[in-house]
Amino acid sequence: MTDSRPIGIFDSGVGGLTVLNQLKKQLPYEQMIYVGDTARVPYGNKSQQLIQQYSQEISEFLISKNCKMIIVACNTASSLSLEYLRSKHSLPIEGVIEAGVEEAIKETTNNQIGVLGTHSTIQSGAYEIKLKEYQSNIHVTNQACPLFVPLAEEGWVEGEIPENIARVYLKPLIDSKVDSVILGCTHYPILKRTIYNVLPKDVKLVDSGEAVSQKVIQILSEKELMAPSDAYGHLECFVTDLPSQFSKVAKRFVDFSIDKVKTIELHSS
Ligand code: DGL
Repeated sequence: MTDSRPIGIFDSGVGGLTVLNQLKKQLPYEQMIYVGDTARVPYGNKSQQLIQQYSQEISEFLISKNCKMIIVACNTASSLSLEYLRSKHSLPIEGVIEAGVEEAIKETTNNQIGVLGTHSTIQSGAYEIKLKEYQSNIHVTNQACPLFVPLAEEGWVEGEIPENIARVYLKPLIDSKVDSVILGCTHYPILKRTIYNVLPKDVKLVDSGEAVSQKVIQILSEKELMAPSDAYGHLECFVTDLPSQFSKVAKRFVDFSIDKVKTIELHSS
């Protein structure tokens, strides 16, 4: 059985495009609909109640577009609204946390794992709780890195300034001798090289976006929801503010071109 309905992917803005980029590479035949909530970004310093409301509105939009699955391509929304969304809708909904956790557990040899994320993600404890659920003897060093988001948006990802900021953020992780670090925010893979430069050589970085693609393939095949292999993987992008800034920044986040971006107004039913 195959299913050619689209996969819905959403983020607070452009960051989820790092996840979309991986998904397009691994699932070229799938139709995809991406929503970036650019009018209300950032989610990383908002309350759980608001993030749940926003995530619910976007999910309702994606369901109205006949999506067969939803991927919450935002670490903050995954941390604070995934279970809420799953309780409201019956289609498969996957976030980025679990995939990142599974990958980090595979990578670590000394059980010292670092987690980088937004304030809301770190405060929620979502990564730490999941990591300890998988393996109770894991020690987690959490660090919120709020300045990484505007640096990535501005394309200011290498050189002295991002490196100095990274040095301050990453010091507690270096001190606790982590051997694996989860990039628990969609924007951080853009700063991968700078983060590598600052961390000791043997530390591994786990990109939740990369990890989630494998999980999505597994869910689609288990539920017989894969698109036919001769299908054309069309992409539609929607934002909640003007599309021009999104299109400009998007070029730095994906390896393909994003042509038409439409503006939508979101409502909750
Ligand atoms: N997409 C968000 C995340 O992955 C980062 C940007 C924001 O704060 O909204 O946590």
